[in-house]
Amino acid sequence: MPVIVFANWKMNKTLDEARGFIERLAGEFGRARGVQVIMCVPSPYLSALGPLCGDGSVYIGGENIYDREWGPYTGEVSAPMLRSAGATHVLIGHSERRRCFGDTDESVNRKLRLAAKNELTAIVCIGETREEREGGGMFQVLERQVRVCLRGIRAGETCCLAYEPRWAIGAGVTPTLEEIEETHTFIRRTVADVYGAEAAVAVPLLYGGSVTPENTRDICGLPHVDGVGLGGCSLDYDCFARALGEALAAAGA
Ligand code: PGA
Repeated sequence: MPVIVFANWKMNKTLDEARGFIERLAGEFGRARGVQVIMCVPSPYLSALGPLCGDGSVYIGGENIYDREWGPYTGEVSAPMLRSAGATHVLIGHSERRRCFGDTDESVNRKLRLAAKNELTAIVCIGETREEREGGGMFQVLERQVRVCLRGIRAGETCCLAYEPRWAIGAGVTPTLEEIEETHTFIRRTVADVYGAEAAVAVPLLYGGSVTPENTRDICGLPHVDGVGLGGCSLDYDCFARALGEALAAAGA
């Protein structure tokens, strides 16, 4: 399995800036073996950026979908819309969606079902708050998030789980490598409880939250870590390209 690296641009970049970035990225990493690069971008840019990715290692995805497919929901964007605009992937349940827009494990589950129905590979974000970690409730929170988010999703329906501790996002701090390994091992075990051990190995587990070129290689090298997600670093081409180089090194490519 190649190392997966996803970018989350959030609400940043003009279309022209985005185009220039993706053209450069596809030129440099479009044929890279050993890494799968998923660029999660603002929805209005999907149809313009998709064709620039080529048909190699770079993929385009959305940052969110609504939990209905069609109807009177002014301003919302749905799974079939993303798909028809050329997205192959979508981020679901990012902590900023949970904090600012009311996403819950239940709505994340509805979104994930719609992503699967519309053949979008979802990256489902889970993660604890600082209080939950320090208060000793972290594993309980993560277990609930995994079980509720995956409810009704068959093994093999393509999705990844991204462990993104809320306190690490945009904060310049990460858990220690030991803590990431411990958490990922727990998440893998929980997914195995849901799907069985064999199918659980096929669900990529990614780490996100203050990933930089400096820590990418070590994090990607941990057991039960299949890749990383980058927010802030992915906005700067050179930073992101360096992180991709480190992910490739971790993959031995
Ligand atoms: P960060 O964001 O890399 O800036 O911490 C990660 C994310 O929000 O997915």
